[in-house]
Amino acid sequence: MTIGVVGGTGGFGHGLAERLRRLGEDVLVGSRNPRDDIVSNEEATRRSTLIFLSVPPGAVEATARELAGDLAGKIVVSVASPIVFRDGRPSAEPGDRSLAEIAAEAAPEARMVAGFHTVAAKALASEGPIDEDVLICGNDAEAKAVVAALGERIVTGKAIDTGRLETARWLETLTALLLNINRNYKSETGVRITGL
Ligand SMILES: NC(=O)c1ccc[n+]([C@@H]2O[C@H](COP(=O)([O-])OP(=O)(O)OC[C@H]3O[C@@H](n4cnc5c(N)ncnc54)[C@H](OP(=O)(O)O)[C@@H]3O)[C@@H](O)[C@H]2O)c1
Repeated sequence: MTIGVVGGTGGFGHGLAERLRRLGEDVLVGSRNPRDDIVSNEEATRRSTLIFLSVPPGAVEATARELAGDLAGKIVVSVASPIVFRDGRPSAEPGDRSLAEIAAEAAPEARMVAGFHTVAAKALASEGPIDEDVLICGNDAEAKAVVAALGERIVTGKAIDTGRLETARWLETLTALLLNINRNYKSETGVRITGL
């Protein structure tokens, strides 16, 4: 399976791509400005069977719409969070719908899954194990199972199915919550769900 990372030059996408490569996966890093071993977002999408959409929140809708034709029928993972910084403090500014739902509407034939919002770019970039769970949601059970299996190779914990794609509304705000916790505790935190 080839995995494409749209916006793969950013902190999250780069960390993810490197970690997936260390796991032995074939990864294509996509960018608006292809160079050396970085391909265009279109090429990364076209040549991959599973695609991470790893662009800033404000770019999700337009990027999904632009790539919609090549995303059709493929498993797409939306990782975007509606983060804003107010006086240097991380906050979340969610809309009525999640970014994942917006992406799903812009690329209606993509098999949209949302997840990994609680996995930090720094953790992905580190060489060590990522001692946390990964939370994922979506309406396509088969696509979700594929992403869950991949997620459980990335983290040492479980891939937790939080439900339908609309639950991304809550998942997406968790990134800002963790950033605030990190700030208070000078830490690098993730999430573990207990009691399952
Ligand atoms: N960083 C984290 O720890 C973390 C954790 C959880 C979730 N997330 C989410 O993951 C996503 C990626 O995070 P990041 O920190 O890697 O973001 P980022 O560095 O701000 O952006 C990622 C890449 O997106 C591309 N991009 C920027 N503006 C764009 C635009 N207007 N249209 C299309 N592409 C654009 C850029 O690549 P090119 O210039 O090469 O095209 C950039 O390198 C975000 O939505 C974020 O909320 C991040």
